[in-house]
Amino acid sequence: MARRKTSLLASTPELIAKKRDGGRLSEEEIRCLVEGYVDGSVTDYQMAAMAMAIFFQGMTPAETTALTLAMRDSGDVLDLRSVKGTKVDKHSTGGVGDKVSLCLAPWVAACGVPIPMISGRGLGHTGGTLDKLEAIEGFDVDLSVRRFVSQLKRIGCALGGQTARLAPADKRLYALRDVTATVESIPLITSSILSKKLAEGIDALVMDVKVGRGAFMKTHEDARALARSIVRVGNRAGKKITCLLTRMDAPLGREVGNANETREAFEVLNGGGPEDLIEVTVALGIEMLRLGGVAKTRAQARAKLDAALRDGSAIRKAEAIVKAQGGDPRVVTEPDRLTIAKKKVVVRAAKTGWVTDIDAREIGLSAVALGAGRTRADQAIDHSVGITIDAKPGARVAKGDPLATIHHKGNGKRIAPRIAGAFVIGRRRPKETPRIIEIIRR
Ligand code: URA
Repeated sequence: MARRKTSLLASTPELIAKKRDGGRLSEEEIRCLVEGYVDGSVTDYQMAAMAMAIFFQGMTPAETTALTLAMRDSGDVLDLRSVKGTKVDKHSTGGVGDKVSLCLAPWVAACGVPIPMISGRGLGHTGGTLDKLEAIEGFDVDLSVRRFVSQLKRIGCALGGQTARLAPADKRLYALRDVTATVESIPLITSSILSKKLAEGIDALVMDVKVGRGAFMKTHEDARALARSIVRVGNRAGKKITCLLTRMDAPLGREVGNANETREAFEVLNGGGPEDLIEVTVALGIEMLRLGGVAKTRAQARAKLDAALRDGSAIRKAEAIVKAQGGDPRVVTEPDRLTIAKKKVVVRAAKTGWVTDIDAREIGLSAVALGAGRTRADQAIDHSVGITIDAKPGARVAKGDPLATIHHKGNGKRIAPRIAGAFVIGRRRPKETPRIIEIIRR
């Protein structure tokens, strides 16, 4: 059996067998495997078998760190040392109505923390920041490294997409995991997220780990295990990490869909926006300001965020970013300029009562069915379609009152029953549940 040149130790089948039988892979073995995957000497079927072995056997923190660093080093690693200040990014594990990055990045940058943010596209029932930004006509997310770094220096924030050269091992492995039922593995999720974030050249990261029906992690226990793993591996890689566990049972805010969500995010910068969205954004912002070293205490961080909203600097920062990346900056203060589909279908309550629950996953899948998301990676999306939640959990509704408004291009009526089915109307007012469940930091 052929032995790979860098491995003095074992062939790929031997490495797979070692992990399958519960053994620990060495740093060299892991690096060798990842390098082989990128150069083609380890095949997709071998990597799929390894992913399944990791799925069942797990990895130690040392193995997860080795996998993360090997995937980081599989492509370019940005050098941001020429950018002054502690560079902080924020990443979410994905949710429905999660437009936090769009208001958070300019807001925190306005407080003096440089934000190099590299985001993704929608995945399954969850939306993606790049798709939402592209709801702004002309907005360019394909920034070259030079342009990304120069904008970061000039404006203090750049919002881009993952290039083919950033953590390419993750790009391939993620696509493989997606079709081999190996996504929900803590070491694989940890290394996937952190390899990309470390390749960005950040100093610190705030993670929003979503918990609940509309998230990858369905239980508090699993989300906590993932958060601990991310903090541990991030620290081993020399980065400061804070993870917030936030609830994702019902959609965040009132808007789902690309232009809908961008509009709502800008409403927050204009002093409006729904309470739950503001709560999560501010909680993440406080941690970013502390990690960025511009505030020592939570109270100081909160005061800085409030001031940036009050004095308009958060809006000016968002306008500067939109302008630099090719969009019309007027959309920030006039978000109604964003194109939203004209046709509407209103979903109404079938009975009187309290809205006790809204299934975020069903709402996310309905948005995908409207055309706001993809069912295949190469699919085009419609940025103008979406869903407005008219009655959030805790709202009292009478029979016939609006629950949601569908903004569509012709298929709204067909999708309306699915959206209606996502709402639960009960006889009792539901208890308020906190959006922020736990903060894990170091
Ligand atoms: N997001 C990622 O980037 N990777 C995962 O494995 C899961 C969510």
